[in-house]
Amino acid sequence: MLPTETAVLAALDLAYIRAQFPALAQTVNGNPAVFLDGPGGTQVPQHVIDAISNYLSRDNANTDGAYATSRRTNATLAEARSAMADFLNCGTDEIVFGPNMTTLTYAMSRAIGRDLGPGDEILVTRLDHDANVSPWLALEEKGVTIRWAEIHREDCTLDVEDLAAKLNSKTKLVAIGYASNAVGTINPVKEIIRLAHAAGALAYVDAVHYSPHGLIDVAALDCDFLVCSTYKFFGPHMGVLFGKREHLQRLRPYKVRPLTDAIPNRWEWGTLNHECIAGITACVEYIADLGRHGDSTCGDGRLGRQSSEARPSGISTRRAAIVAAFESIHRHEHALMNRLIAGLSQIPQLKIYGITDPTCFAWRCPTLALRVINQTPDQTPLALATKLGDRGFFTWDGNYYALNLTEHLDVEKTGGFLRIGLVHYNTEEEVDRLLEALKEILEG
Ligand SMILES: Cc1ncc(COP(=O)(O)O)c(C=O)c1O
Repeated sequence: MLPTETAVLAALDLAYIRAQFPALAQTVNGNPAVFLDGPGGTQVPQHVIDAISNYLSRDNANTDGAYATSRRTNATLAEARSAMADFLNCGTDEIVFGPNMTTLTYAMSRAIGRDLGPGDEILVTRLDHDANVSPWLALEEKGVTIRWAEIHREDCTLDVEDLAAKLNSKTKLVAIGYASNAVGTINPVKEIIRLAHAAGALAYVDAVHYSPHGLIDVAALDCDFLVCSTYKFFGPHMGVLFGKREHLQRLRPYKVRPLTDAIPNRWEWGTLNHECIAGITACVEYIADLGRHGDSTCGDGRLGRQSSEARPSGISTRRAAIVAAFESIHRHEHALMNRLIAGLSQIPQLKIYGITDPTCFAWRCPTLALRVINQTPDQTPLALATKLGDRGFFTWDGNYYALNLTEHLDVEKTGGFLRIGLVHYNTEEEVDRLLEALKEILEG
């Protein structure tokens, strides 16, 4: 029993939250669906679905036309930029939309690579998703040297000393992840950005996995670029890049000639996915609403009740509401994570990869990578995910493109990991049911 966590859980109005997500009501073989696949993509609240559908039914047009729907489309894009600027704490002209994080990162690596060549170095990490590795590896064909920051194998944390030792005057860019989508490690990004800048390098942060779990503040981080994908934080399938104004102006994108040279548009090519962009505003509003709706900073400093009334005071801006929302999300997720890790630790056949010491949980997200020790062919990550899937638990197996990590830990050839990813709409009861199901599967 975890009394503190249970008290915190009671404070989150999960009924209010879950009622907004139509997908959560599904069943599989008569069992309620349990979405533990957030790291692959989260479910969306009705507001997001409505925003996408409303755009298509009322405002559907291309941009910059001299008529009503086109003007409304321009307004839709401006609103979404403003929402993302609040989400990341930056200027609206520093927000670039694209199809997904990978495409945006390839575009940026090509532009940055135009000015690089032999003698230049880029530092990537062994912990990262390949989308923050391969776009930089591609610059090897220009003679750029790619260096690798290693990890501590025992807890899958980044070896920051190794990273620091590999920085030098030739390092032009450090590509790091905010959090690992495989093992859940949160990296000390602010410190790494400081180290990168001290060496004269740019810092490019992949915040895709971190974004549903924690507040992002690009101003406080002082990163040069930060990328995320809205489908990981309750929005549509889109990518968003923050770039410091000076870099978006200075760097030279590959682009068509009629496209204006103004930022951020010079980084957005072709017609964007306007309906999804309408959904981005709605997903940021969903998160802000959690902050307004909750009473997460009640007098004694603990999480308080969440009622259906708006928060009475203290939240005057959307950014402040987002800050409050992430406070509540963090506490709820950590309570669930404690419960899950405590339960998994009682199952002797399982090994958890990543941080398992509770005193270090501030450095992990509720994303867990597991394997059966000495697995038999019917206990591979795929076999476990399939058996769980048949019971309604949606987990993932394999490498989730964190290929460098699965290879480094030598689990790639034997199926990678079983990944269980919690987000704030998951419940204590779902965690307990998952633990029971896992025990049954492993005993059977
Ligand atoms: C940590 C991380 N980075 C990058 C990506 C790639 O994002 P996208 O699918 O938007 O290209 C993912 C996708 O799962 C991810 O988890």
